Amino acid sequence: MLERSSAPVGVFDSGVGGLSVLAEIQRLLPNEHLLYAGDCGHIPYGEKTPEFIRERCVAIAEFFRQRGAKALVMACNTATAAAAADLRERYPDWLIIGMEPAVKPAAMATRNGIVGVLATTGTLQSARFAALLDRFAADVTVLTQPGPGLVERIEQGDLSSPPLRALLAHYLQPLLAGGCDTLILGCTHYPFLKPLLSELLPPDVALVDTGAAVARHLQRLLTQAGLSNLQACGPTRYWTSGDVNDFRNVLQAFGMNSELVEPLGT
Ligand code: DGL
Repeated sequence: MLERSSAPVGVFDSGVGGLSVLAEIQRLLPNEHLLYAGDCGHIPYGEKTPEFIRERCVAIAEFFRQRGAKALVMACNTATAAAAADLRERYPDWLIIGMEPAVKPAAMATRNGIVGVLATTGTLQSARFAALLDRFAADVTVLTQPGPGLVERIEQGDLSSPPLRALLAHYLQPLLAGGCDTLILGCTHYPFLKPLLSELLPPDVALVDTGAAVARHLQRLLTQAGLSNLQACGPTRYWTSGDVNDFRNVLQAFGMNSELVEPLGT
C-alpha cells in the first residue's frame, strides 16, 4: 500500500496539449511522481459532445485511481468545462484540479479594455465559460475565437508549417481587427504555438495562459491536504490512446523525455 503523500498525481488532456501544464508541474514540484494520459485516440475534445467527453474523463479518472493517484489534474479546458463538476460529484474525497481560460488575470492586465480568447468550440460554448465572463469580464470587452484544426496539427508535432501559420493568422485576424491588447490561450495545446504567435502578433499584444497557475494551485492543495511528496520520485510515465510512436515523436519534438510511453487500454 502506497503512503498517500508518495502516491502519484494523474494529469490528462485530450492529447499532447496538457504537456504544457505537465512541464509547469514538473518545474514547480520536482518531487511529485507524475502520470500523464493523452487521449490522442479521441481528439479533438473541442468538437465532441459534453456527454462523450464526460465518459472519456470518467474512464481516465478510473485508470488513475487504479494506479493509486492522490490527485487528478484536468490539463484541458474543454474537459474541465464538460466534466469537472461530474467528476467532483463522483469522487468527493479526491483532489481534482481543473482549468479554465484566464479571464480574470486578462481582465486585470488589459490596458485598453479589449481581451481576445482563443479556445476550442466546446470551451467557448460551455455554461462554465459564460459564468466566467459574467463573473470577471463585466468591465471589459471580450472577443472570442474558436480554433478548429489547430489541435490536430499540434498533435502531429507541427508547430510552424505554412498551412498552420495561415490557419492561425486567419483566427487571429478578427481578434486583432477588434483591437485586443491581451490574448488568452484558452486551450492547453496553444502554448506550444507561442513562437509562431510571437511572429504573427504585434509586440504589444500580451499572451496569457494558465499552466503555471494550475501548477501553483496543485501545490497549494497538496500542501493543505498534507499530501506533498517530500522524497525524490520516479520519472514521469505516459500513456496514450493514440499511436505510441507518434506520441513519442511529439514528446521528442517538445524536448521532453520520451522513454516511458505505453498504450492507454481504456
Ligand atoms: N487541450 C484541450 C483544451 O485545453 C482541448 C483540445 C481538443 O480539442 O482536443 O481545451
